[in-house]
Amino acid sequence: MIRAIYPGSFDPVTLGHLDIIERAAKTVDELIVGVLNNSGKTPMFSIDERVSMLKNVTAAISNVKIMSFSGLLVDFAKQTGATIVVRGLRAISDFEYELQMAQTNRKLYPLLDTMFLATSLKYSYLSSTIVKEVAFFDGDIQEFVPESVVESVQEKVQARKRMREND
Ligand code: PNS
Repeated sequence: MIRAIYPGSFDPVTLGHLDIIERAAKTVDELIVGVLNNSGKTPMFSIDERVSMLKNVTAAISNVKIMSFSGLLVDFAKQTGATIVVRGLRAISDFEYELQMAQTNRKLYPLLDTMFLATSLKYSYLSSTIVKEVAFFDGDIQEFVPESVVESVQEKVQARKRMREND
């Protein structure tokens, strides 16, 4: 039984993330999407919202499980019995940081290996940060995130704009 973790912030989940989830789920027995609950960052979506969006968009993939985690990824891997970390590589610029993380994780927990999947070309430019930026300036994000996520992002952007106006 091979159990893998696909960790990330998923703030929000993009079509690029979903593509990696679908492809990784075909190569392992169980894929846990680990949503980082990072108290040091102020995400657009709460941890419950990110988990719920991911559950919604992966509902049809039977071997995918969505869980949140905080602290070290290696501790989450130990708790869940995962032996593989899945990460997507979009471009060479991702490589340095990803290699550093993979090697640190393996140093901390030698049983944990990282499997990199090359992001599909059509999503190679995409990131959650870009999605939020485009949405903030009222750009069309329909080709960037799953259909059910479009409205949630737009609602958050509008709420943020209203808050700024009232400041
Ligand atoms: O989607 P992201 O924000 O690029 O994902 C980064 C993530 C969640 C994979 C990374 O920050 C992480 O694993 N954080 C948990 C803390 C940890 O274990 N850090 C040490 C690895 S170097």
